[in-house]
Amino acid sequence: NRLGILLALLAGLLLTGCAGDKSILDPAGQAARDVVMIWWVMLGFGTVVLVMVTVFWLSTFKRKEVARTPVEERRVARRWIVGGGIILPVASIIALLTFGVPTGQRMLTLPLSDPPEVIEVIGHQWWWEVRYPGAEGGEVVTANQLIMPAGEPIDFHVTGADVIHAFWVPRLGGKIDMVPGRINKIRLEADEPAVFGAQCAEFCGAQHAQMQLYVEAVERDEYDAWLTDRQTDELSSLATNEQQHEPAREAFMTHCASCHRVAGLSTAGEGPDLSDLGSRTSLGAGIMAMEEGAVTHWLQHHQRLKPGNKMPPHDDIDTATLASLGAWLESLTP
Ligand code: CUA
Repeated sequence: NRLGILLALLAGLLLTGCAGDKSILDPAGQAARDVVMIWWVMLGFGTVVLVMVTVFWLSTFKRKEVARTPVEERRVARRWIVGGGIILPVASIIALLTFGVPTGQRMLTLPLSDPPEVIEVIGHQWWWEVRYPGAEGGEVVTANQLIMPAGEPIDFHVTGADVIHAFWVPRLGGKIDMVPGRINKIRLEADEPAVFGAQCAEFCGAQHAQMQLYVEAVERDEYDAWLTDRQTDELSSLATNEQQHEPAREAFMTHCASCHRVAGLSTAGEGPDLSDLGSRTSLGAGIMAMEEGAVTHWLQHHQRLKPGNKMPPHDDIDTATLASLGAWLESLTP
């Protein structure tokens, strides 16, 4: 029957939030487990309050009138106000605070004898800059993909380049605002190697919802190797090696180099770093999968795929040149 279908649909809708790579109900680190515990306690507590209030409300319909003097009437009223309006809420709030405050504190970046590695994340409209200042051999800079070692705490230092964004990896904990001119810090840890979805969690303009990120937790060895591959020297030889890509490199220098860094060819500008673009799993800050031809498709249609992004349309570049640019950028895989 219709009611059954409606209920099934409703239950389905409610449960869609319980799975997936951005679900807080599927924690993959201690901070996230703390957060989800608060969530369950609040849900349970809220349910108890809802039931209590509903029962009281329903009881008012059937209450027998009791003859009381005005003095008694006032005393009963006072009891309700003091008990239900002051004592009960204060006790509940104190209970929830004693439970919640220590949880929040565990996510603070308190000093440790063995200080965690720092990864810097900078929010832009509408993409992510990621810097690894602790990399051996010099700082590594990349964009729209975050690799971190699993099984150890990492201190994320975040800020915004233009407006306020927020860094949020729901399965690891968080979230934390990225405020221009200020560095906010959060400590997160992934239990096991896995890929987690991340999302900008502060409205930052038209493409806020399309400001996504994949966070990949890997074993420590793999992480170190990944960083080594992204040293400027390594990336430079990658970008300049292949003779066949010479026309694409020229087009890049003409049309793209003033905004995008490709190590060995251009320095950092306003746009995302592209030095290892081909090795990323997604494109356009998490909105499409990186597969053959994806970069060319993005170059042709990026204003339709992500309207308002700061890269100008490429109507002035012919299709063959765009295709060669796309193929070259996809080949940038350490
Ligand atoms: Cu960046 Cu919302």
